[in-house]
Amino acid sequence: MSKKTVLVSGGAGFIGSHVTVELTQAGYDVVIADNFSNCDETNYRGVCAILGKELPLIPMDFCQRSSVEELFSKYPIDAVIHFAAFKAVGESVSEPLKYYRNNLVSFMNILDVAREKGCNVLFSSSATVYGQTDQLPVTEQSPRQPAESPYGNTKTMCEDILRDSVKAYPGVRGIALRYFNPIGAHPSALIGELPRGVPNNLVPFITQTAIGKRECLSVFGNDYPTPDGTCLRDFIDIVDLAKAHVCAVTRMCEGKMKQAYEIFNVGTGRPLSVLELITAFEKVNGVKLNWKYAPRRAGDVVAIWADPTLAEQELGWKAERSIEDTLAAAWAWEKRLAGK
Ligand code: WQD
Repeated sequence: MSKKTVLVSGGAGFIGSHVTVELTQAGYDVVIADNFSNCDETNYRGVCAILGKELPLIPMDFCQRSSVEELFSKYPIDAVIHFAAFKAVGESVSEPLKYYRNNLVSFMNILDVAREKGCNVLFSSSATVYGQTDQLPVTEQSPRQPAESPYGNTKTMCEDILRDSVKAYPGVRGIALRYFNPIGAHPSALIGELPRGVPNNLVPFITQTAIGKRECLSVFGNDYPTPDGTCLRDFIDIVDLAKAHVCAVTRMCEGKMKQAYEIFNVGTGRPLSVLELITAFEKVNGVKLNWKYAPRRAGDVVAIWADPTLAEQELGWKAERSIEDTLAAAWAWEKRLAGK
């Protein structure tokens, strides 16, 4: 296969930067575009350090169609991976129009120009589309539930936009990857999660508490109908997740898709409770975490984890890293951020 070029929109972010590393190391040329609304250049510089070279980095607003057209005219893009979106669940409830406008218009601009150029599109979706279901583990055929937030709704809507565009426009092919809970950092500790302000997500709050940046971790609810009373999640290592994107892009570029629109769960298939994750973090890193139980958080689902069989069968991908390795990498990244 001749060398292919992949546009990674939102490529300076947590997931985008890890995907950029894996794509480049797999032999793809990568163009990173980002509006830097939710990150700075820390991860971009880390990506260049890992790869030992500079990659094209285009600051841009994907809501400006002209900018998207200019980008596609400047680079011979064969496929697009679209990460660029606002993703704070709570903020989306208080700022729905900001989320619908940004997340939908940016995706429609990218998709519209990509189809004109004959580019395949991979959409960064989320297990949040499944909502709360008691049919666990979830497969790709599990029904989507009404979203609990405008953020989650934009994921569902973008999946439908991709599905309908693939049906309508000849030559457009798309894959949606439904992530479960991405956590961890690159083993080099040169790139990782960089939440702005107080972290919403569990693992960055854990590492910031352990490093002393946060006073105490609140465990939201211990009265759920689960073995230890805390929620169950499918925590997927960020490098495993990134490798799934390489498999999906290769499937698209090599014309191996079986339908014009395909969906894959990207998870480990191994549910872990909040408490089990805390215990694993303390054990593998030899630290004692300051945490306490707190009331349930609105919008949380009790339990969700993936049936990852389809991705294994069709993408030849499976999560490989242990939760211990993942949490050790998350801690190494936090220590590096603190200059330790
Ligand atoms: C996990 C568990 C919390 C923080 C969200 C989005 C999803 C995706 C991943 C973007 C829950 C508990 C958390 C804390 C806690 N994001 N928790 N104390 O909510 O499963 O998924 O992030 O695509 O779309 O919905 O992840 O890490 O916020 O929470 O007890 O300080 O940890 O209650 O049970 P979540 P999370």
